[in-house]
Formats: sequence, structure tokens, C-alpha cells
Amino acid sequence: MFSVVLELTTKCNFNCSHCVRGKRVNKDADINALDLFYSSGCNYGLDFISLSGGEPILCSNFYDQVGLIVDHGYDFGFVTNGYCYEEYEDLFKYKRQFKEVIVSSDGATVETYKQMRDEKGFDNSWKALKFFSSRRIPTKLRTILSTSNYREYEEIIDKAIEYGVHEIAFGSIIGESSLRLSAKQRLDCWMEIENYAKNRIRVQYLSCLGNVPIFRCLAALNSNSIRISPEGKCYSCCDMGEEAGLVGLVSDTFPIIRMRSVLLNSSIMSLYTKYFPSRNFVDDYDTCNFCIRNYPEAKKNIQAVLQ
Ligand SMILES: C[S@@+](CC[C@H](N)C(=O)[O-])C[C@H]1O[C@@H](n2cnc3c(N)ncnc32)[C@H](O)[C@@H]1O
Ligand code: SF4
Repeated sequence: MFSVVLELTTKCNFNCSHCVRGKRVNKDADINALDLFYSSGCNYGLDFISLSGGEPILCSNFYDQVGLIVDHGYDFGFVTNGYCYEEYEDLFKYKRQFKEVIVSSDGATVETYKQMRDEKGFDNSWKALKFFSSRRIPTKLRTILSTSNYREYEEIIDKAIEYGVHEIAFGSIIGESSLRLSAKQRLDCWMEIENYAKNRIRVQYLSCLGNVPIFRCLAALNSNSIRISPEGKCYSCCDMGEEAGLVGLVSDTFPIIRMRSVLLNSSIMSLYTKYFPSRNFVDDYDTCNFCIRNYPEAKKNIQAVLQ
């Protein structure tokens, strides 16, 4: 399966303290440019489109975008803060293509949740999980662990099971934040979650949680995490890339974007072996922050390869 994440809009109804979105101008993705993209993607094995944002439903032509995706034969899913979950009701008419919903909720209690997200969102994030899981859409909870909520992992797992969630994805904050867990806290948490969740619910550990002595993030290498922003820029994963613009994203440039993302990832891998030949990690090591810091050097390497 090959998927891309489309950031349909930068508009959002929340202002989460950890959000990578930053202070971006509100902008919806251009439906005409995406139409071209959808026409060419299927030739390169693209079969799943994940809608993100901002908050996807706030895109002014959200349902037109979904209609276009379905008309082109793709499956889709989306990631949401869950606040306006009832407005996603009309998606059920595409039940065959609607393959996944991810609801972000960062805490088992409103007290911890509100340290990262707008407190008004807490109840609805859980209602949203119930709303989708009870309609048998594969429903994933995404929790970003931080110093505010990481001691609640047991309650989060129990609650997710009670709400019919199919899988939980745990991550950690990418970039600088006073709420970011240390490497040791992330690793301890990972082990404890693994123990507690075993045989109860499926758990995915996002690469941003990773600090084990293996470079785990192969997102770009698998070409399954290319993200396209409303400004028409393509990123190899959450933060890196910007290797091609959507304007040029027609059939002839689509494979180039994939190739660049693979090169970028290999380049990051070789930097990694250069910095950590003995696999002894610095204290705050995590894959995403390593890439953010070293991206300029990796970019130079891929430019050299492409010339
Ligand atoms: C950017 S949001 C967009 C979709 C929707 N608004 C939501 O909150 O789910 C997608 C996911 O990225 C996560 N995210 C945002 N900033 C992050 C960061 N700095 N580190 C790790 N995850 C982050 C959010 O918690 C959320 O799960
Ligand atoms: S709801 Fe999602 S996009 Fe909006 S600020 Fe929070 S993490 Fe960012």
C-alpha cells in the first residue's frame, strides 16, 4: 500500500501547545491541482489518501475533495481532533472506501488534556471515537505523550478499549517544548505500555517516540508518508522534504518526488551512522529531532546525488 497525507487546510478550531502547524496563514488546498495529482497517483501505486490539516472538516470544500478522491478510485481516511465529529456523518455514504479514522486525544482526563489541547475538545474527542467505532470504521486513537499525560497510559488504554478503539498510536512531541519527555522517560514509557497493552489492544509506536538503538524511522524510504501541504509543498514526512511543489505534481514529477524522498531517507540514515557509529545515544535523542537538526546536511547530500 502506498499512501500520502494531504493537508487539506491549515485552518483549525484549536491552538494546541505542541502543534507543528505554528502560525500559518489559513489556506485550503487547491482542488484543481489535487485533481491532477489524483489522476497521476494511481499510475505509481498510490491507493490510500489520508486527510489531515489543520482540522480537515474546516476545509471549505471538504466533501468535494472526498468525492474527487473516491471518484478516482482511492480509499481514504482522516485525522481529526474530533471536536466537530458529527459533521463527518456524510462520509458514511462512502463506507467501502472509508478505511480509517484517527482521533487525536492527549490525556485520560481533562486536566492533563488541557495542558496540550483546548479543554473544550476533551469530551468530544472520546465521543468521536465512539461515534466512528460503533459504525465499524477502523478507529485509531492517537496520543502524543508528554510530561503532562505519560503517567496516565493505563487509563488511556483502558478507556480506549471501553470506547471500541481498534488501535492506539503513541507518539511524543516533535521539536522543542517544555512538555517534551526525556529520552529515558520515552523509553520507560514504551516498555511499560508494551507490557500493559499486550494481548489487549494493538499499539503502534510512532517514530517520534523512538529512542531505541535502531534507527526506526523508515517513513520516507517506504514512500508511505509523503505529506502535501495546502501551499502545494511535498514533504518526505512530518517536517522534512519540501522537495517538489504541487504545481509540478503531475505524472512526470510524481516518481521524482518518491525517488527524492527515498534518497533523503538514505542520506539521513548515513548521517545517523556517522554520528552514532557505536549506537551510543545522546540524552535527548529521538529520530524526528535528529532529522530536523540534520536536515540541511542531508539535503546537501541528496542534491549531490541528483546532480
Ligand atoms: C497536525 S494534526 C492535524 C489533524 C487534527 N487537527 C488533529 O489534531 O488530529 C495531526 C497530528 O499531529 C500531531 N502533532 C501535531 N504537532 C505535533 C508535534 N509537535 N509532535 C508530535 N505530534 C504532533 C497531533 O497531535 C495530531 O495527532
Ligand atoms: S487540533 Fe490538530 S492541527 Fe489543530 S492545533 Fe491541534 S494538533 Fe494542530
